[in-house]
Amino acid sequence: MSQEIRTIAVIGGGTMGLGIAHVSALGGYRTRLFDTDEGALNRAYNTIERNLDKGVARGKVEETAAVAAKDLLAFENDFLTAVADADLVIEAVPESIELKLSIFQRAERDAPQHALFASNTSGLSISEMAGATGRPERFAGMHFFNPVHIMKLIELVRGAETSDDTLAAMAEVGKRMGKEIVTVRESPGFVTSRINALIGNEAFRMLEQGIASAADIDKALKLGLNHPMGPFEMVDLVGLDVRLSILKHLHSTLGDLYRPSELLTSYVGDGRLGKKVGRGVYTYDAEGKAISE
Ligand SMILES: NC(=O)c1ccc[n+]([C@@H]2O[C@H](COP(=O)([O-])OP(=O)(O)OC[C@H]3O[C@@H](n4cnc5c(N)ncnc54)[C@H](O)[C@@H]3O)[C@@H](O)[C@H]2O)c1
Repeated sequence: MSQEIRTIAVIGGGTMGLGIAHVSALGGYRTRLFDTDEGALNRAYNTIERNLDKGVARGKVEETAAVAAKDLLAFENDFLTAVADADLVIEAVPESIELKLSIFQRAERDAPQHALFASNTSGLSISEMAGATGRPERFAGMHFFNPVHIMKLIELVRGAETSDDTLAAMAEVGKRMGKEIVTVRESPGFVTSRINALIGNEAFRMLEQGIASAADIDKALKLGLNHPMGPFEMVDLVGLDVRLSILKHLHSTLGDLYRPSELLTSYVGDGRLGKKVGRGVYTYDAEGKAISE
């Protein structure tokens, strides 16, 4: 039997961290969400409450489960309080290796000896982070997807020294959070980011070459290949800057196949970063509806 997890500390309460805290509490875990920014903690509290209430209204979440989840959640601005009794610490701070290393060094000091550590990184090295702690065998990647309370998958990422027991315990947590698990050996972009970046980059090359319009490329992949979203709809949601940084990482680690398209690079240079700024491949109105290509 894998190690029993009762209390989970989530570090970073932004887009991903608040979603991870939501599914953690709904999975029955005592959950402490830590952020250095009070505003982020307030937003996380309001968003989780709203999403749980929506889940109840839509019949997706039992009312008693939503009430229990709210009771299990605590919002912390003190790191030590957040991690002191954690059995599992899940990190979801911005994608910077220096920041993540400093979080895990602190957690190594303040969390119990037995606690497991996980990073929600989109592609940074799990082994490098694990190496900054005294527990590399109890460290792995738990790669969640956005929005976390809706998306079904967790990619479990095995670092160089991750033990089977650690993976088993995290897989059990993932299942209690209502997720399906795939296990991936550490490598750039794991499975999902690597394939998605390649498809997205190819779509930009086709647009650049005038092969079809963005709307028709999206339509072709949705109706011809059964993708739920087109590659341009997807990149506008993810952020063109985020996609470009993933491609640069894949290019430097995996080679020329991943060289970022010139059109993507020039859009990012022009500030066309996606839906979050109202303009990416498409232009959006104030409600976030696409109004033109
Ligand atoms: N957004 C996505 O679609 C997505 C998907 C999968 C994985 N990820 C990964 O998840 C991680 C978080 O991404 P996000 O989109 O939630 O970012 P975000 O910017 O929405 O949230 C990050 C949060 O971390 C907080 N933070 C910053 N420094 C901190 C510190 N020292 N201690 C505690 N909190 C701190 C910020 O205040 C912010 O609330 C990144 O590694 C990202 O690559 C993101």
